[in-house]
Amino acid sequence: MEAHKQLTIGLFGFGVVGEGLYKVLQQTPSLKAGIKKVCIKNPEKKRNAPASLFTTNKNDLLNDPEINVIVEVIDDSVAAFDIVQTALKNGKSVVSASKKMIAENLQAILTLQQETGQSFLCESAACASIPVIRNLEEYYDNDLLHSIKAIVNGSTNFILTKMFEEKLSFSEALLLAQQLGFAESNPKLDVEGYDAVNKWTILLNHAYGIVTHPDRILFSGIQNIQGSDAAVAREKSYDIKLIAQAKKLKNGKVAAFVLPQFVELSDPLSFVKNEYNGVVIESGFADKQFFYGKGAGSFPTASAVLSDIAALRYNYKYEYKKLYHHKPHLLTNDYYLKVYLSFDDWKYIPREEFEWIEEWHAQAERKYLIGVLHCEKLVSAKWWKSNNTSLILTPDPVIDNLDIIHLKKRSLELAGVV
Ligand code: HSE
Repeated sequence: MEAHKQLTIGLFGFGVVGEGLYKVLQQTPSLKAGIKKVCIKNPEKKRNAPASLFTTNKNDLLNDPEINVIVEVIDDSVAAFDIVQTALKNGKSVVSASKKMIAENLQAILTLQQETGQSFLCESAACASIPVIRNLEEYYDNDLLHSIKAIVNGSTNFILTKMFEEKLSFSEALLLAQQLGFAESNPKLDVEGYDAVNKWTILLNHAYGIVTHPDRILFSGIQNIQGSDAAVAREKSYDIKLIAQAKKLKNGKVAAFVLPQFVELSDPLSFVKNEYNGVVIESGFADKQFFYGKGAGSFPTASAVLSDIAALRYNYKYEYKKLYHHKPHLLTNDYYLKVYLSFDDWKYIPREEFEWIEEWHAQAERKYLIGVLHCEKLVSAKWWKSNNTSLILTPDPVIDNLDIIHLKKRSLELAGVV
């Protein structure tokens, strides 16, 4: 039997995740993985570890032949990419938690792995403690993944839970998420959906072999959700969650987006509260499966980093089977979405963009409608994010092109038009 590889770690970053990993490794002596050096940006900051462990010179780690694993958990995505490139080229394995960096440089990171033959693992970059990447890689290695629907950002889920269930204000809830170490240092990344779409870019790759850029995915965050939306949700017995979704259409292409969504109370994702994340996978034979766990925070994130480090003892690598061994899926915006929109004035809503409108409530100060429109109408415009307009998807929002004619006719019949 092949002996376990001895792992000597160079760690970049000693923030929420880095310090968490340091502590977790101290409690896992059986792993035989030790941190040799930690590279930090600010040497003045007080750290809970011996001063001799730290350096501010990245080359102390990247050029040390004894260090065979670089763990990179820093905030700056440009610096992180630089570290990853050099580490892989210098023959070191890499474990990274930098979602933004990975999503924005996905193709380059894939190429680097092929060129260097080194492992690049990033389980903590998607749903923190939930082992979703490795499951998508190893378990769902087939053509039958119908859809994935997930809560991938802990902070926004935490904020929505605190606001709608515990009646905290948005700013109180955000402050708490920051104090607990869930939020990004720039919380706009959480609140406006950037963090979630970065994670979704990574997961689309492992789920469907899609290589894309976050800029090309339809997304928003929770920044426009209003109290009146929560009242409508309650009336209809729904929750509001920030949901990332990918669904295989009948033509084999994949519809993918990250948007606020009404969730039925019977949906497993409705059960996901606070900083927890959840992933519902629908596949051909297994039907529905639900993964649930902490999606943010020091130890939960460090646990996934630790698991990646442990996997390196056996030289584990992602094979990217769906990209390299199967025909990768293509992303498409050619489908329809059923949306709820609330707004202050009709003049902000381009009604002609809708295929049909099923419900409209124009009496109250805050007006709303439920209607169907082509996805491209949202991708190519920003009206639905401006003028205090709030867009929330309905529970089963994707309408395949092949179903639209039938549904359109049905909706006109219901409205008494034909
Ligand atoms: N800010 C992120 C979140 C941290 O709230 O999900 C974990 O990736």
